[in-house]
Amino acid sequence: MSPTATSVTIDQARLSAEIEALAQISDTPYPSVTRVLFTEADMKARAWLKLRYAEAGLAVREDSIGNTYVRWAGTDLSAAPVGTGSHTDAIPNAGRFDGVVGVLGGLEAIRALQRAGFKPRRSIELVMFTAEEPTRFGPGCVGSRIMAGTMSPEKIMALRDKDGLSLDQARAAAGYSGSVASAQLPKNYYSAFVELHIEQGYRLERAGLPIGVVTAIAAPATLRVQLTGEGGHAGAVLMPDRHDPVLAASEIMLAVDRTARGTGNVNSVATCGLVQVLPGAVNSIPRDVTLTIDVRDIELARRDGMLAEIRQTARASAEKFGVGFSDEVLNADAPATCAPEILAAIHAACDELGLRYQDMTSRAYHDSLFMALICPTSMIFVPSKGGFSHRPDEFTKSEEIVDGVRVLSATLARLAG
Ligand code: GLV
Ligand code: MN
Ligand code: MN
Repeated sequence: MSPTATSVTIDQARLSAEIEALAQISDTPYPSVTRVLFTEADMKARAWLKLRYAEAGLAVREDSIGNTYVRWAGTDLSAAPVGTGSHTDAIPNAGRFDGVVGVLGGLEAIRALQRAGFKPRRSIELVMFTAEEPTRFGPGCVGSRIMAGTMSPEKIMALRDKDGLSLDQARAAAGYSGSVASAQLPKNYYSAFVELHIEQGYRLERAGLPIGVVTAIAAPATLRVQLTGEGGHAGAVLMPDRHDPVLAASEIMLAVDRTARGTGNVNSVATCGLVQVLPGAVNSIPRDVTLTIDVRDIELARRDGMLAEIRQTARASAEKFGVGFSDEVLNADAPATCAPEILAAIHAACDELGLRYQDMTSRAYHDSLFMALICPTSMIFVPSKGGFSHRPDEFTKSEEIVDGVRVLSATLARLAG
């Protein structure tokens, strides 16, 4: 039996209560959310989520890196399933909707379709991806990168956090073991993948529209620059004798901003969001500076051009100030193009529900960037108040989330047949 989209009802009160409850599992006080990979907060959130899955009668499977799957079996077990899902980790001082809306909204979409008596032909699988956020180990989308097989498991497992712990050690401490390669999914493991997410920008709000349909995801890159000087006593070492890496860092940070503005294209962005200075004392000349730089664009060639220019100017600044230089590209991913047939299914779902929508590119990255490498993929966006995201005042109204879940349910019903 296939439900009409309008016969599916979303339990708005329960979904809102679940989003609020998950927000309480955080290393910073509400409404700020900090849930970094494999910290106590992340592990508590995972345990909490598994209880919600159990309540819904959905059995959980976890892979060797902690990607968590639940499956609603379809009537045709030989058919490739339809996937949905997102992440529940959060960068320091983030909000409570990023990623969470796609996981809890995905769960509610399944529950709503079950309540409506829908019997899917294809199984529907909900995924909570490990470490979409880059906070602890550098690159984002660790779980989906491994699923798509785009980075060697050895290279990923050797990544180290700021305390020198490797990702392999961190996953073992969190209780995950076994071959990392086994977490890779075969191509077309899913017949389709659809991720519900907040927009994290202000285009929907400004257009007065409830739904965005994602046609492409911008190409992200992360560059780490290490600058090494001499350090020493801030009173005793005279200015002509210094090799202060902060001076080179200052020039590099300005160059990062100038490079993105310099393309003359609105889609070029570059950010130096992480600056670490050692030893970090007011009366000590800095010795080591690490800059972590995020560079993105819709066009791969333009993004690569920015990355090359930043690397070149950073090296030149280090030479100018007489400090040591090394750099490393932590990730340089291609943009994703979303699949026309999934866009068509989302459009049809919106039309059926009478919800207006706009096609748009995603400037933020998502696990869908990697799912698009292995199966036809697209995303459903709901508005973000003021476009705020990655900050505690990130906000989407409960009714707006419900609209997104209605579109997700109707899309999953279409795709699962
Ligand atoms: C994901 O969180 C991103 O930074 O785009
Ligand atoms: Mn995020
Ligand atoms: Mn996200």
